[in-house]
Amino acid sequence: MELPAIEGGKPVRPSFKEYFPKLTDEEKQLVLDVLDSGRLVSSIGKYVKLFEEEFARYLGVRHAVATINGTASLHTAVASLNIGPGDEVITTPFSFIATATSILHNNAVPVFADIEKDSLNLDPATIEEKITPRTKAILVVHLAGYPAEMDEILKIAREHNLYVIEDCAQAIGSEYRGRKVGTFGDINAFSFYQTKNMTTGEGGMVTTDKEELYRYAKMFVDQGQESKYYHTILGWNYRMTELQAALGLGQLRRIGELNAAREKIAQIYMDELSSLNGDLLKLPVLKPYVKHTWHIFQVLLNLDKLRVNRDRIIEALKAENVLVQVVYPRVIYENPLFQRLTGYGKGCPWLCPFYGKQITYKKGSSPIAEQVARSVITLPTLPGMTEEDAIDTANAIKKVLTYYKR
Ligand SMILES: Cc1ncc(COP(=O)(O)O)c(C=O)c1O
Repeated sequence: MELPAIEGGKPVRPSFKEYFPKLTDEEKQLVLDVLDSGRLVSSIGKYVKLFEEEFARYLGVRHAVATINGTASLHTAVASLNIGPGDEVITTPFSFIATATSILHNNAVPVFADIEKDSLNLDPATIEEKITPRTKAILVVHLAGYPAEMDEILKIAREHNLYVIEDCAQAIGSEYRGRKVGTFGDINAFSFYQTKNMTTGEGGMVTTDKEELYRYAKMFVDQGQESKYYHTILGWNYRMTELQAALGLGQLRRIGELNAAREKIAQIYMDELSSLNGDLLKLPVLKPYVKHTWHIFQVLLNLDKLRVNRDRIIEALKAENVLVQVVYPRVIYENPLFQRLTGYGKGCPWLCPFYGKQITYKKGSSPIAEQVARSVITLPTLPGMTEEDAIDTANAIKKVLTYYKR
């Protein structure tokens, strides 16, 4: 048996490699065009408008509103639906914190259902028991690029008269039953952070088919302005710059290629790790009617069959010089923010008189999500990676898990 580097063996790779987006000449030219023009902001430039139009066309929605990041996009979505003090939104506890904080940002209360073991997304079977007279919406996340179970979620929303918001931060181009995510919900959010499937550095987009929500979102991201210096609603400055939009346009034009590169890496992991599947780990299980875009590759460790804990496995993998992390190490409500209910001011929205209810985020309340968060490890699918990089990553996992097998 091969000795892991952390136990004194030779690492799979001689040194650690980082991966960054490789920008094309066309993308650089688009950004240069903005710099040359001196038109850096959307009110006097053409790129934000163009990017919004092309993004909407790509997805197949009527409207898109560019923003500064995914969090701002989610906040805009929540606000545009007029979800606020006293309201609850049901969501997944296994996601990035912004999924839930975007609800808090508009003074509403996140309520967590549980997730499916295979997709790691919101389990429709756990939603209805969370619905109360205060519930206004379901905020669904397509985690890692794996589309959530939209038919059932939309059915529950229709039956209970709830809005649906999609968090597509990790799922640009993902499809559910042949239709792109970001077109199902009333209003939806995307992120273009550095590591996302397409990037503008920081950046985001809101999408909707509804004219009224579009108009609200447009004002919300622009200081609540209905027309110049005429402010109708409480808004923010969430406006994307022309530089970001120019880069976004270039990235969007080759999103198919960017997603295909990730899929290729994911397929290598699937093939290379299949010998351990069902024994030392669990690989993603794909539903036949989804198109996954592999923002990240989530693997669940079978900790019962290992004689060390996950922290040790991660340390051992780092010592092999491969990039493996934990996304996410705990469910959202296990964070101090939710345990201490430290919100706005004196603790709003939880302690807001409009809410008038007591909520505690108890351990064990989303058992599958908690179990997943304790056993997940996350393999990179970054487009800068070569096939060899992916094979090295898989080999490091095979070596480390086999060594620590009970
Ligand atoms: C699922 C999810 N939601 C929301 C966000 C927030 O996006 P941003 O980082 O662009 O604010 C992210 C980004 O990491 C995310 O992964």
